[in-house]
Amino acid sequence: MTTPPLQTKLPKVGTTIFTVMSALAAERNAVNLGQGFPDFNCDPQLVDAVTDAMKQGLNQYPPMTGIAPLREAVAAKIAALYQHTYDAASEITITAGATQAIITAILAVVHPGDEVIVLEPCYDSYVPNIELAGGVPVRVPLTPGTFRPDFGKIAGAITSRTRAILINSPHNPSGTVWSEQEMLQLQELLAPTAILLISDEVYEHMVFDGRQHQSAARFAGLAARTFIVSSFGKTYHVTGWKVGYVAAPAALSAEFRKVHQFNVFTVNTPVQHGLAAYLQDPTPYRQLPAFYQRKRDLFREGLKRTKFRLLPGEGTYFQCVDISDVSELREAEFCKWLTSDIGVAAIPLSAFYGNGFDQRVVRFCFAKKDETLQSALQRLAKL
Ligand SMILES: Cc1ncc(COP(=O)(O)O)c(C=O)c1O
Repeated sequence: MTTPPLQTKLPKVGTTIFTVMSALAAERNAVNLGQGFPDFNCDPQLVDAVTDAMKQGLNQYPPMTGIAPLREAVAAKIAALYQHTYDAASEITITAGATQAIITAILAVVHPGDEVIVLEPCYDSYVPNIELAGGVPVRVPLTPGTFRPDFGKIAGAITSRTRAILINSPHNPSGTVWSEQEMLQLQELLAPTAILLISDEVYEHMVFDGRQHQSAARFAGLAARTFIVSSFGKTYHVTGWKVGYVAAPAALSAEFRKVHQFNVFTVNTPVQHGLAAYLQDPTPYRQLPAFYQRKRDLFREGLKRTKFRLLPGEGTYFQCVDISDVSELREAEFCKWLTSDIGVAAIPLSAFYGNGFDQRVVRFCFAKKDETLQSALQRLAKL
């Protein structure tokens, strides 16, 4: 018996550094600050809300677009926070996490040969998603060192074939948060074009030092052309539940739903009911900035005692550091060494670039219990 030969659709995709680092961290019993998810549990009330839904028998297929109470709660949250009213029936769709939302948006609007601008470093699914749609990824670097958008470079990458641009703020991996001024610049740049925006806002509730998240929803000229993507996994410490949503004008949502219908069709019913009930109280997401800012500060204070040079941490649960004063190694080699010899796992920023650009910066995740962070800091203090 032989398996017929096949031609891969994603020749450049192999085992990622995330898998390699997690395996190494487990093998060496290292403190894993590589993985981008919490090592603490979610609010028991949220678990109760989902359990109640299951016990009530809410266990069959929900409507294709998501249950109405959850779509309505999302629309109300966006209206309250960003002053833009989406119609819950035609403009909000519940998805199987942000990852499915992003690929679905791309498959819905990108035709073979269309160009899609991505700003590197970026989340690893964007480029393969564009390629699966037959699109051409156009990589534009964020400014090395600051990771701010370079509008000259973005403008220079726009052609008559540009279908969409993907942005992510607060930004994984750098932790930068786009300012109002930057969003206005983007709005101005896109105004004379037919370019769509996919705005990955999964870290929308993790912004620090009094900053406000500048959702694309706040800017009428952007909102009219944008798929806003968010994820309950990040906001409620339940990354494994894989539930998120897309907010987009009706015409975009209609196309989105055509693809959504045939790639997942629907999303976990009891979790949707649990989230709808839990979302009625804004306290958990309103408290999230303070919750993570305290962890960020604890972690940064500890890192100040090492030779790492700290990069700004404006948002997300990631902290980047420059390793130049600690080691001569390249980022990926450094991360392997740090995991094996020091016992703390981190992720090289080069993993977020198509060409492996190495700027001597690595990313730590601080969505961890205080004792996990303390234990990592104790090990890093040797550096
Ligand atoms: C920037 C970014 N977008 C999307 C996702 C995926 O979110 P989800 O788990 O809801 O699919 C992540 C998760 O790490 C992320 O960092």
